Amino acid sequence: MSLTRTLTKTRVAIHNDVDVVVAIQKGRMLAQAHGFSTNEQYITVTAISEVAHNIINYARCGEITLDIVEQGKRCAILIVATDAGPGIPDVQQALKDGYSTGAGLGLGLSGARRLMDEFEIVSEVGKGTTVTMWKWRNDNNNRAKNSRS
Ligand SMILES: Nc1ncnc2c1ncn2[C@@H]1O[C@H](COP(=O)(O)OP(=O)(O)O)[C@@H](O)[C@H]1O
Ligand SMILES: [Mg+2]
Repeated sequence: MSLTRTLTKTRVAIHNDVDVVVAIQKGRMLAQAHGFSTNEQYITVTAISEVAHNIINYARCGEITLDIVEQGKRCAILIVATDAGPGIPDVQQALKDGYSTGAGLGLGLSGARRLMDEFEIVSEVGKGTTVTMWKWRNDNNNRAKNSRS
């Protein structure tokens, strides 16, 4: 088992739409700087956007941390969205396509779960919600950075 190393930690407080955009931009820059493909960057920003909007819509405020984690030669972006909002009474239900208690489409959490490689929600009513998501960089894409020089 190779050592897990966290390379960078970026914390973005989420209070309004501008903060959401900042989190998205930082996530994209981080993924780009660490050699994630355009598609992987897109997946990452989509997932960040969904959990950040959920913070605004359901918890009012919270924070998102963005990390790059190295495990041996593998590299992942780790996104953690935390709030101290109302919590989710039934997480399994919230993860179903089309389930929404708000005005949304109910596809945010389910979509993010599908797009990301690892996805976990810990939520307690009256205490808050933490969504943890990982996206591993696919190094079989023949990107120049990893090819023999
Ligand atoms: N951070 C959160 N705090 C409390 N409830 C949440 C949070 N995130 C999601 N939820 C609940 O899960 C439901 C599904 O979320 P999501 O899939 O993003 O769909 P939508 O945002 O369109 O409703 C929301 O309608 C809401 O009830
Ligand atoms: Mg949503």
